[in-house]
Amino acid sequence: MMILGVNAYHANAAAAIVVDGQLVAAVEEERLNRVKYAAGLPARAIQFCLDQAGAKLTEVDHIAIPRDPRARMGAKLRYSMRMPSFAIDRIRVMRRFAGIREDIAAAFEIGPAEIRAQFHRIEHHHAHLASAFFVSPFDRAAVLSADGLGDFASFMCAVGEGPEMRTLGEVAFPHSLGIYYTALTQYLGFWKFGDEYKVMGLAAYGQPTYLEEFRHIVRASPPFSFRLGLEYFSYQINGPDMTWRDASRTPVIGRLFSPYLEKRLGPARQPDEPLDQRHYDLAASMQAALEEVLVACWNGLARRSGQTALCLAGGVAFNCVANGKIFDSTPFEQVYVQPAAGDAGLSVGAAFAVHHAAGGAREFSMDHAYWGPRFSPSAIQAVVDRTLSSGEADISELAETALVESTARHIADGKIVGWFQGAAEWGPRALGNRSILADPRRPEMKDTLNRRIKHREAFRPFAPSIIEEAADEFFERAHPSPFMTFAFPVRPEKRSAIPAPTHVDGTARLQTVSRSANPLYWKLLRSVGDLTGVPAVLNTSFNDNEPIVCTPEEALDCFRRTRMDVLVMGSFLLERRSAAAAPEESDGRLANRAN
Ligand SMILES: [Fe+2]
Repeated sequence: MMILGVNAYHANAAAAIVVDGQLVAAVEEERLNRVKYAAGLPARAIQFCLDQAGAKLTEVDHIAIPRDPRARMGAKLRYSMRMPSFAIDRIRVMRRFAGIREDIAAAFEIGPAEIRAQFHRIEHHHAHLASAFFVSPFDRAAVLSADGLGDFASFMCAVGEGPEMRTLGEVAFPHSLGIYYTALTQYLGFWKFGDEYKVMGLAAYGQPTYLEEFRHIVRASPPFSFRLGLEYFSYQINGPDMTWRDASRTPVIGRLFSPYLEKRLGPARQPDEPLDQRHYDLAASMQAALEEVLVACWNGLARRSGQTALCLAGGVAFNCVANGKIFDSTPFEQVYVQPAAGDAGLSVGAAFAVHHAAGGAREFSMDHAYWGPRFSPSAIQAVVDRTLSSGEADISELAETALVESTARHIADGKIVGWFQGAAEWGPRALGNRSILADPRRPEMKDTLNRRIKHREAFRPFAPSIIEEAADEFFERAHPSPFMTFAFPVRPEKRSAIPAPTHVDGTARLQTVSRSANPLYWKLLRSVGDLTGVPAVLNTSFNDNEPIVCTPEEALDCFRRTRMDVLVMGSFLLERRSAAAAPEESDGRLANRAN
């Protein structure tokens, strides 16, 4: 049985394909059309998934859509009476989803009747829950989804057992932890879609001195719910202003906070205004209030479900700082967060929801993130030969052991290395197949990377990858974090050993690398450890203000226009000749990229 999951007409458009209960492929449209957080119909992603399954669209048995416009219809109707523009928007959404068969058929240049697949609509949060639990290693677990908004709800919790889940509670519009975080992110001057993680990084510089006020903005409601102080927000009065129908541009979200928020907390920061201690303290207070609510919900869910394993999904599950506190604050002992915990992951969740609804068994767990496009050695060589002019770089082709040892030597020598291997990662994190790597022991490496390649705000931390066997030696908690979804404290005596990816509060958003999940990357980290005594690297995504590179052409292009020293693609090692180095970035460019 072949099931195609499609997250369409929503940010993080993506597709996934499940064949006989096994995930075969999954990719976000942004990696293929190069539009960050692309919405619209993910036609390229669908094509990729079909290619990986060796199938034509006409051979697919089921198409799972993680959206049910008919969900919570009563609540939507009540809201529509007060907000006619919302009603018009809902009608547009319903029409759009009603026409998805025609849209897919048109994209593949076939008639709608030629698609013999049965279409299924899976409610947004059920798809989130399914995206976490059904691919987790747990037979039984508590499951929680928290995001901005989907199908008029923002939060749902459940208990899962085998191929089934039982919903325990939900929170509907207008209350939303995701919107809370996005609204305060805007208030702090960060308006781009997806900027929330910047404010999470900013919070480490401050103290939660505004926590009392924030407890009026968001508060827990036992046993596992919460409420917003709606007077601090405007979206529920003016209608959510979110633009994500167009696949050709990054979504935009309009202002979510009210004048009352500024009255209580002071004027909002302008995007070009310098950050100061007040902003740091506001960010710390916002994060602390979120954590208070999450801890209360997690504990309530633990009591009600009686489980010691927890699965998380929805955009809030990317709050690795909060996730890192689960173990000390709740009875949960094991936590699983799928690499694409946000809306891209809905495609996987919807597909598995259909698989299990049809009686399929639990026979799959996602223990690695490498479900995207991969390229053969000959394809990589052809790109290198075609693209690189002679004299730009010294090129060598190496067997695996020599490749790993040579790359490790470059990292230990302080070089910045582009590392392009195997299949692209599923989800927003580079996890050792489309990564830029550097020596974590060098305190100056963060600034060097920002100056030469990444051009990010100076306050944002970088992350380490470490072999799982050494995690306990360097971190105060050794719980697996294969998808960089937990921040744990670095042991105080080890902070000087990995200063570059250690954040100002002494934590790091680590990736633990197992030999089974990524043998080549594991060998590289071990080889770095053999040279330096630290089996870890600083790992940042292979890109420069763009979606993470997907193809060899994009990797080579990024290598050529930035000041990366070395590019390792497949078995090829390209070392930039010093005369061919790209010019120094000017400070002006850095300033322009600050927001
Ligand atoms: Fe969502």
